[in-house]
Amino acid sequence: MLNFKSNIILAPLAGFTDCAFRRLCTDCGAGLTVTEMVSAKGLHYQNANTKILLKTAGESPVSAQIFGNDPHIMAEACQSEALSKFDCIDINMGCPVPKIVKNFEGSALLNDINLAEKVISTCVKSTTKPISVKFRLGFKLDEDICIDFAKMCENAGASFITIHGRTREQYYSGQAKFDNIFKAADSIKIPVFANGDIASIDDYNFIMNNSNVYGVAIGRGALGNPAIFNELLGNPYLDKASLILKHYEYLKANFDEHYISTNLKKHLCYYIDGIDNAKYIRNQIFTSKDIDSAINIAIKAIKENTK
Ligand SMILES: Cc1cc2nc3c(=O)[nH]c(=O)nc-3n(C[C@H](O)[C@H](O)[C@H](O)COP(=O)(O)O)c2cc1C
Repeated sequence: MLNFKSNIILAPLAGFTDCAFRRLCTDCGAGLTVTEMVSAKGLHYQNANTKILLKTAGESPVSAQIFGNDPHIMAEACQSEALSKFDCIDINMGCPVPKIVKNFEGSALLNDINLAEKVISTCVKSTTKPISVKFRLGFKLDEDICIDFAKMCENAGASFITIHGRTREQYYSGQAKFDNIFKAADSIKIPVFANGDIASIDDYNFIMNNSNVYGVAIGRGALGNPAIFNELLGNPYLDKASLILKHYEYLKANFDEHYISTNLKKHLCYYIDGIDNAKYIRNQIFTSKDIDSAINIAIKAIKENTK
């Protein structure tokens, strides 16, 4: 069983949860962080981009998320050198993006529970690392198969699961629903993490006080607010300006200038979310001549707003 640092984990967000942000979230109390999804076929063909996605920066525990539908290629990924440094491997069965679904990967596997079972059990048998699964309530708009799917994951040998309380056809619309996630947690023994729209102490307390879930996974709620983990855990946490500077240090230690500039500017727009004139400041960040100026603009705006 994986040694979670806390029961609040960082959900994977493609384009955002690189090793620098994951390290920052770990420092801020995240119980586990996960890479964005990496193609098992991409690993098979040693695609150059997967190398960047699989960088680590001392965050621990850390999981690598893979996607695919071929049990043998998925198992090969679990055994690959590239994933050997990870504490855990997560299988993506929730991605709603058309190009993934069209290949019968990600959330498409919700439509074939037997194949999903085969993928998970083959991965589990291929490695001693814990294998987890992240999935949605179902595929079609109002479908909810999450209890059966959760039982299947447990029977296939998964160590824990994360359930996003929306269906594939919902994408990110509407409110995440937790009723059947709670029932799934009652019907299996492995830890269940609830996911979707959890961004405040009230959301967290509601879930923990009304269910047997082990914990929650937070994605968008951590953007611009990596302190959310310690905040919900009742621990002290750093102010935003210090977090931005720490974020920058972790990026500088791991990535080149071009990557840092495009990536951190996106994050800065989240860090300044909710302050007066956010739209104007966002524009200044994107048009600033270099990343140091963009950081100064964001920090100045945050400080002025908290006076
Ligand atoms: C920009 C973006 C990228 C995402 N990338 C992934 C991914 O790579 N793997 C995955 O399992 N889920 C991915 N998700 C889904 C999130 O992990 C999470 O399930 C979803 O955003 C709901 O949780 P939240 O409301 O806490 O963000 C992504 C979501 C967004 C918005």
